[in-house]
Amino acid sequence: MKTTIKKAILPAAGLGTRFLPATKASPKEMMPIVDKPLIQYAVEESLSCGIKDFIIITGKYKRAIEDHFDTAYRLEEKLRASGKETILKELNKLNNINLAYIRQRVPLGLGHAILCARPFVKDEPFAVILSDDVIDPGYPLLKEMITVYEKKKCPVIALQEVPKSEVHRYGIVDGKQEGAVYKIKNMVEKPAPDKAPSNLAIIGRYILTPEIFKILERQKPGAGGEIQLTDALKSLVKKTPVYGYLIKGKRYDAGDKLGYLQATVDFALKNKELSEGFKKYLVEKVKDLP
Ligand code: UTP
Repeated sequence: MKTTIKKAILPAAGLGTRFLPATKASPKEMMPIVDKPLIQYAVEESLSCGIKDFIIITGKYKRAIEDHFDTAYRLEEKLRASGKETILKELNKLNNINLAYIRQRVPLGLGHAILCARPFVKDEPFAVILSDDVIDPGYPLLKEMITVYEKKKCPVIALQEVPKSEVHRYGIVDGKQEGAVYKIKNMVEKPAPDKAPSNLAIIGRYILTPEIFKILERQKPGAGGEIQLTDALKSLVKKTPVYGYLIKGKRYDAGDKLGYLQATVDFALKNKELSEGFKKYLVEKVKDLP
């Protein structure tokens, strides 16, 4: 895919409190779904859209992310010597990507994490991918969003309809449908159900333009005392059109225990090596359920 979006920011400096104690000293973004860490799914999704430059925002206890994308000489030698070419090929398939790591010294919020990438993004539009929002690899959400961006040349954010009872967990938008997209009028971070302007929730895929940095550098802390991207986007919609794109495939909130388990089950059922044995196990298990 030829596109003007060449860079992706992958914020990975959050504390991952919903997954403690697993995330106490190791990154949430390195938790695997079947055999691949969350952040690798995000990188592969971007690569399928022609994005090869990645800016990963890291923090304390996040070193494993850098090691993961590094060459593992000893391991490779061993695999080569034992003729395990398929695994070797799999390990090397991300060798052509460019990675920059920026340390967010204090996790002041998603908005602040994105601001940290400013010196590397400069004046280009860019994608933001939250690795813990996992999209079914068979569904090209990011590609579709980039296509909308290429047409409109304005920021595009991914939306999902959520039940009213869950709106307090998301940024919720007030938008007007215009064909395949929503023109966003306003947005609220984590509203109470009776204060939510809709049930359209912002999920972790964004195509943004550098204008957002000017807003983020002045953004005051919002919900949870964090510098929120949603608050900055709320100011952005007053200056320039911002479009919402409703997701049409499956998304998992893998930063949440239940969402993580659902992703694991679905991905295992689609995995060639595992599906048969795993399905058998699940069928047996279901019979035993109270
Ligand atoms: P989350 O809202 O999922 O927060 O962040 P979290 O800290 O990762 O997890 P919980 O809610 O405490 O369990 C959304 C994304 O923004 C990144 C996270 O790494 C995640 O990818 N983030 C968040 C940062 O990079 N820096 C921050 O200061 C906050």
